[in-house]
Amino acid sequence: MALYSDKVMDHFLHPRNVGVIEDADGVGEVGNAKCGDIMKIYLKIDNDIITDAKFETFGCGSAIASSSMATELIIGKPVSEAMELTNKAVAEALDGLPAHKMHCSVLAEEAIQNALEDYKSKQKG
Ligand code: FES
Repeated sequence: MALYSDKVMDHFLHPRNVGVIEDADGVGEVGNAKCGDIMKIYLKIDNDIITDAKFETFGCGSAIASSSMATELIIGKPVSEAMELTNKAVAEALDGLPAHKMHCSVLAEEAIQNALEDYKSKQKG
């Protein structure tokens, strides 16, 4: 069996939603100290719905595929639902990641949560 699913390869080779949202409503950045990979997520939120999401990932193929899939999963979703997106759900949507690559999908979960926290903190101000 191939190490990576077709979906992982597809999202790695043709990542969706790469880029920056200049006037983002929430931005989240996380890094993995072990591998040194970094992921940044930008969200546009309107009326509590995520209308756009973009990412910049300086990392391995699994991290790029995870950010691509994660942004696809949250666009159009309410903030509360996006907050509950787990790395497991991202990996499942990619038809699985090798066990030693599961931590790469954790970056996507954490970056999205950070971006949502950033959005929420801006709302309070
Ligand atoms: Fe660092 Fe995948 S090896 S995120």
